[in-house]
Amino acid sequence: MSLDDPSAPARPAGPAAPLAAGPATHSYEPRLGHGLPHDPFNAIVGPRPIGWIGTHDGHGRHNLAPYSFFNAFNYVPPIVGFASVGAKDTLRNAQTTGEFTWNLVTRPLAEAMNASSAMVGPEVDEFALAGVTPLAAGLIQAPRVAESPVSFECRVTQVLQLQTAAGETVPTWLVLGEVVAVHIARQLLVDGVYDTAAAQPVVRGGGAADYFEITPAARFRLYRPR
Ligand SMILES: Cc1cc2nc3c(=O)[nH]c(=O)nc-3n(C[C@H](O)[C@H](O)[C@H](O)COP(=O)(O)O)c2cc1C
Repeated sequence: MSLDDPSAPARPAGPAAPLAAGPATHSYEPRLGHGLPHDPFNAIVGPRPIGWIGTHDGHGRHNLAPYSFFNAFNYVPPIVGFASVGAKDTLRNAQTTGEFTWNLVTRPLAEAMNASSAMVGPEVDEFALAGVTPLAAGLIQAPRVAESPVSFECRVTQVLQLQTAAGETVPTWLVLGEVVAVHIARQLLVDGVYDTAAAQPVVRGGGAADYFEITPAARFRLYRPR
């Protein structure tokens, strides 16, 4: 995650591995370097949904930060997860308190989301830094983002430290949480059906600064075979 996080260990740029023999395909072993001006990994696995994660430290201090190593992993019960590349405040708070909120990043909130990613100490409340309003959750103590039209209240279910294929530990932690409450702005429910594009969700692309906004024009439908 070095592009989003200067504190993360940079992946070696190095020369591409001998795998890159074909004229039409650039192949490489990441452990040996990608051999390109920019690491393509984040741009390939993208765009990614953003986990805008609200926590508290157990002593009344709020914290807010975006995590694009984020996704949903289960329906029933709903489980979401995000990966902290390095031990960050959000990870520590989630471990300490056992809870976090997820808040949808929309186009009007993109700049605030970005501001909340500033590398600041645990004493800094990123809600204030980003100019958004903490809203009390219903079932947990972690704060929601009042301006976000959709948010989840989550209870931590597992915190897994990642490891390599060789079994070496990696300083990255996957935090999984059960969604115990969901809040949706009614304007996003059209005849009771959640309208994804109406929320103008923002997703993370690659590079230092690329994002995409989901618009109705981007939608197509594909029904699963029966
Ligand atoms: C769009 C975006 C996505 C990010 N995704 C991640 C991520 O998946 N994992 C991570 O460790 N840091 C990620 N970061 C960097 C963190 O937001 C940043 O390190 C932040 O300061 C962490 O805050 P905290 O210490 O309060 O948890 C991302 C930043 C941005 C702007």
